Amino acid sequence: MIVKTRDRGAFRRKRSGCAKILFVFAPLLVLVGCGSEQSFLNTAGQDAASIATLFWVMLAGAVVLWLLVNGAFYYISRVAPGQIDQRYARHVLIGGGIVLPTVVLSALLVWGLSLLPDPRQPGDGLVVKVTGEQWWWRVEYWPEGADAPIVSANEIRLPVGQRTEFHLTSDKVIHSFWIPALGGKMDMFPGRETMISLHPESVGTYRGQCAEFCGASHAWMAFAAVVMTPGDFDAWLAAEAADAVPPADDRAARGAQVFQSEGCGACHTIRGTDAVGEVGPDLTHIGSRQTLGAGRSKVTLEDLSVWINHTEMLKPEVKMPSYDLQPEALDDLAHFLEGLE
Ligand code: CUA
Repeated sequence: MIVKTRDRGAFRRKRSGCAKILFVFAPLLVLVGCGSEQSFLNTAGQDAASIATLFWVMLAGAVVLWLLVNGAFYYISRVAPGQIDQRYARHVLIGGGIVLPTVVLSALLVWGLSLLPDPRQPGDGLVVKVTGEQWWWRVEYWPEGADAPIVSANEIRLPVGQRTEFHLTSDKVIHSFWIPALGGKMDMFPGRETMISLHPESVGTYRGQCAEFCGASHAWMAFAAVVMTPGDFDAWLAAEAADAVPPADDRAARGAQVFQSEGCGACHTIRGTDAVGEVGPDLTHIGSRQTLGAGRSKVTLEDLSVWINHTEMLKPEVKMPSYDLQPEALDDLAHFLEGLE
C-alpha cells in the first residue's frame, strides 16, 4: 500500500470543515443536556437505569474505537507515510477490519441484549390503561381487584418502589408511550393492546411524551408523570376516584351553567354532574392536574381562558372547537374548571 504525501492546502481546508461541523453540533449537544424532566440520562427508575448504563458503555466503546481508527489514520498519513509491507497491511486489515469488530460488536450485542429491561415483567398489582387519542392521553387506573377503573387524563401518577403495568392501546393512529426518566418506549396501536411495566425509584415529577409522529399536534402530546410515596399515591387515587366538588362560590356556579349551556358535557365528563361525554378528556379533577391540553399549558385561570377561546391556535387540528365566549362568561367558566380539584 502506498500513501502519497498529502496536499497541505486540502488538508487544512478539510480541517476547517471539521471545525465548522463541531462548532454547529457542540451547542446542540449542550442543549440536549438541558431539561432533566425528560432526559433518559436523569434516571428515576430501574428500567431507565439499565438503558442509561447501556448508553454510557456503548458511548465509551464508540469513543475508544473512534480514537483507534483516527489514531491509525493519523499514524499512516502523518507519522509514517510511505510504502507499507504488504503482509503487514493484510494482517492489519484482517485483524483490525474483520476480527476485532466481529469480536467487539458480538460481545457488545450479547451484553446489551442481556441488559435491556424486559418490558413485559409482571407488575406488583396496579394496572394503568392508557389510550392514545389525537392528541391526548385517556388514562384508567385499575388497582388490584378493582371492578371499574378510576378515569383520568393527560397525567400519570405512580407509587414509588413498585412495578406498575401499563396496558396501552390507541384510538386511530399509532402513538408511542414514553417516560424517558423511567424506562423505554412502547408503541400504541389501534385495535391491539401492548404492554410495558415500569418501576420508579425516585419521587418526583417527570415528563412523558408521545414518541411516534401521529399528526399535526404530535409535539403537543405530552404529560406529567408524577411519582409519589405509596401513602401519598393511595390518598391521591382515593381523591381521584371521588366525584367532582360542587361549585365553591357564585362565580363557579355561573361557570358550571356556562359549561352546561355551551354543551361542553357532550364531549367531557365531570363525574357527579350531567356531563358524561367521552369524546374528550375527563375533567372531573382538571384543577388538580399539572398541565392542560396534554402538556400544552398550565392549569391557571388565564391559560384555561385562552384555551377555551383559542384551542385551534394552541393545538392545530384539535377536535375541540375554539369558542367565542364573552369575557365574563369565559372568566366564570375558567374559574369553575380551575376549582375542580
Ligand atoms: Cu401521539 Cu405522536
